[in-house]
Amino acid sequence: MDESNCQNEIAQDEALDTIDPLRHFRTGKDGFDMHIEETDIIPHQPRSVQDEVLRLSFPQSPALASAQQVSISLRVDASPGCGGIAWPAGEVLSNYIAMRGRDYIKGRQILELGSGTGLVGLVAGALGGKVQITDQAPLLGIMQRNVEMNGLQASVAVSELNWGEKLSSEISQPDLILAADCVYFEPAFPLLVQTLWDLAHCEKTEILFCYKKRRKADKHFFALLKKKFTWKEVADDPSRHIYTREAISLLTLSSRS
Ligand SMILES: C[S@@+](CC[C@H](N)C(=O)[O-])C[C@H]1O[C@@H](n2cnc3c(N)ncnc32)[C@H](O)[C@@H]1O
Repeated sequence: MDESNCQNEIAQDEALDTIDPLRHFRTGKDGFDMHIEETDIIPHQPRSVQDEVLRLSFPQSPALASAQQVSISLRVDASPGCGGIAWPAGEVLSNYIAMRGRDYIKGRQILELGSGTGLVGLVAGALGGKVQITDQAPLLGIMQRNVEMNGLQASVAVSELNWGEKLSSEISQPDLILAADCVYFEPAFPLLVQTLWDLAHCEKTEILFCYKKRRKADKHFFALLKKKFTWKEVADDPSRHIYTREAISLLTLSSRS
């Protein structure tokens, strides 16, 4: 495809996004675009899902059969918004940190952005991290219920964090930031980059950023990101060959000092 066709496609995408910002999530006949693979942990959840509980275990990979498993009960409910169900990039990131295990997570100050149900942060809490899971106000109720259902109140705190807004005093400076499936709504792109920058002002802050490519206009996010961060693909994940087939990438971001 030449550059002008590509620009036309992006312009069409943007016009349709203005009308329906979440349309990229709805490519399946009954709901979200969640391709089912034998290796998937998270069962298909249609966008009409209401108040169901999934039982999930990480890591899931034949190569990791001997690794210590983390089991999470996850309430999913689409009524508070798209974050109320579990997304494929969240599954990939949960699986990765569980594969790295307690030695990687234990005792670290961790903050998850756009947590939705809180899945990734719950896995980090179960591995011994001191975790803040954050999202917009409508998601805080389901996040809190999931913390309590898993008995993780001592290690996982729920806070409101709207990207682009000044960080509240409730937010602790993290040494590990987690974000899964947070690139989907173009007006939020600069807000997300700003919040990543506000949180990761020192180069020691590690950021794991799991992203599913859904449309060409996502490149606008990476054009903004490039001004403040560099990134590289995580290379030590044995499941990588599976999720790259689903256009999912797991990246580490580093802030440009
Ligand atoms: C596709 S969901 C992913 C949820 C979860 N990380 C997962 O992987 O299952 C995107 C999340 O980003 C949150 N989000 C979107 N815009 C936001 C904003 N401006 N500030 C904070 N969170 C936002 C949504 O509420 C939603 O929970």
